[in-house]
Amino acid sequence: MCGIFAYAGNDNCTKVIIDGLKSLEYRGYDSWGIALRTKDKITLRKNVGKVSEINELESVDADMGIGHTRWATHGNVTVENSHPHSDSEKRVYVVHNGIIENVKELKEYVPGDVFYSKTDTEIIPKLIARFMESSSFPDAVKKVVGMLKGNFAFVAIAKNSEYLIAARNGSPIVAAKHNQNFYISSDLQSLTPYSETALFIDDGELLIYDSQSHAIEFYDFINNKRIQKEAQTYDVNFMNCDRGSYKHFMLKEIFEQPEKLKATFDVNVVNGEIRFHYAIDPSQFKHVQRIVIIACGTSWHAGLVAEYWFESLVKIPVEVEYASEFRYRNPVIDRNTLIIAISQSGETADTIAGIKEAKKNGAQVLSICNVPGSTITRISDATVYTQAGPEIGVASTKAFTTQLEVLFLLTLMIAHYRNKINDTELKNYLDHLVQIPEKMNKVLINTEQIISIMQTHYIVSNALFLGRGVNYPIALEGALKLKEISYIHAEGYPAAEMKHGPIALIDRNMPTVFICIKDHSYDKVLSNIEEVKARDGIVIAVANDEDQRIGELADHVVFIPETIVELSPFLTVVPLQLLAYHIADKRGCNIDKPRNLAKSVTVE
Ligand code: AGP
Repeated sequence: MCGIFAYAGNDNCTKVIIDGLKSLEYRGYDSWGIALRTKDKITLRKNVGKVSEINELESVDADMGIGHTRWATHGNVTVENSHPHSDSEKRVYVVHNGIIENVKELKEYVPGDVFYSKTDTEIIPKLIARFMESSSFPDAVKKVVGMLKGNFAFVAIAKNSEYLIAARNGSPIVAAKHNQNFYISSDLQSLTPYSETALFIDDGELLIYDSQSHAIEFYDFINNKRIQKEAQTYDVNFMNCDRGSYKHFMLKEIFEQPEKLKATFDVNVVNGEIRFHYAIDPSQFKHVQRIVIIACGTSWHAGLVAEYWFESLVKIPVEVEYASEFRYRNPVIDRNTLIIAISQSGETADTIAGIKEAKKNGAQVLSICNVPGSTITRISDATVYTQAGPEIGVASTKAFTTQLEVLFLLTLMIAHYRNKINDTELKNYLDHLVQIPEKMNKVLINTEQIISIMQTHYIVSNALFLGRGVNYPIALEGALKLKEISYIHAEGYPAAEMKHGPIALIDRNMPTVFICIKDHSYDKVLSNIEEVKARDGIVIAVANDEDQRIGELADHVVFIPETIVELSPFLTVVPLQLLAYHIADKRGCNIDKPRNLAKSVTVE
């Protein structure tokens, strides 16, 4: 996803912005640009490719600048389309995240203006420059920002103007001030080297920084009035991380899971009581008659697992919706509906929009998120944080399993409050949950079987992942992991569904990964495995340690420790994460920053 970094101050402006853009690289991008202002002169550099090739800019003397890494939405990956963009006379420069939806109408305000790019962004500096013919730079921005439709965050500078101006409507942007230095970024994490406090810009707000007086103005452009906001402290340690001795962040994050699960348990369970650090109380859910879970991608898979838990233990109906569908579907929700929004980044545009739709209909919104201070945590009625810590690998792993843990604890809390489970049952579930990190470690140290499977099958072009019950979502998750980092086409299905179409794909080139643990559907999954073997298919099974039968049927078996069925997803997902990782590594893929992907999808 696109990244923004801007700076005004007396340090080496070029270096500060370059470092800022590099810290945003993990979000994924395909081109970059930087505009550096020295009073009446603005130097522009931009190109396709990686930010690191811009060290020749070190020589530019500037006291203010804006930088951008672009993940193409409108217009191909070209130099002309990369940001910053300017007006025709090159007086105003803008970097922008998001999508301006009414560009066509807005072009009527700049008749005759020549557009050099195919981007929606270019309209912004052109409009500002046009309004600057009769207004100051800040007033021109105030006029233009109210004309834009769509999801955006932008930062603007202008020749002969001391102002650095940021605007937000739906896409994250945050600022920080330290002495006479001022920083703006699309990602709080990139501000951690500079300040332990941040100025959070919310939707509908402008931040206007005067680099001469160092004054800061917040302006509500929806209601056209100045507002007061104070800097807020945030957890700098949360935002800082490095790869350590691991080859990739993703591998580090896979191996961090036991520790992060323990941390998530310890924060939320005190003396056998589930307290969620007092962020929520079960009485808040007394009126809840239905739960709708909204999320995207891997977070959506976590919701699918939770659906099994809520329905079997709390005994209320649950729907799991893609946030992107939920937001446009005129969903039937009311005050007796609990919306649970799941998001690692807390910045996913579709999930944010889903929350707003739900709140418009009077529903209570509880979010489960990994990033403190992120947008979703600030627009929800309550948030329970996973303790995964910063997740840098684009492919989500530790965030997923800690999301599962929070969801299971939430299930237990509500089930116990509603007397669906008694004290003894609650204690038993918690006792099993507290053993998961140790059991997961046993899976993590047993990777030789995973390596053997990788060496045999890393060249395949397609794969099928099958599971039943609470492990059907894990089949989906395994397929997504393989797809997104190795670029192998993979599909996840309920195992029984294979007979309704996918079995036509089975042949000796198509590995099928089965999750086949000792639960009520074990014998049925064995039958599905036999159906695949009868068609020369390759079978890779994730099975329980004591399973004697699976070895006679499957070509490869990855054994995992037993646990209660409800908690099996914590253990069945790990071999699939490792398999995807090692296959992608063998194929030489960019595991932490897969092509076309971004860590937080802040556009629709
Ligand atoms: C997961 O591996 C993917 N990177 C992606 O599907 C991700 O889960 C999805 O974009 C949702 O992100 P969020 O959890 O930050 O909202």
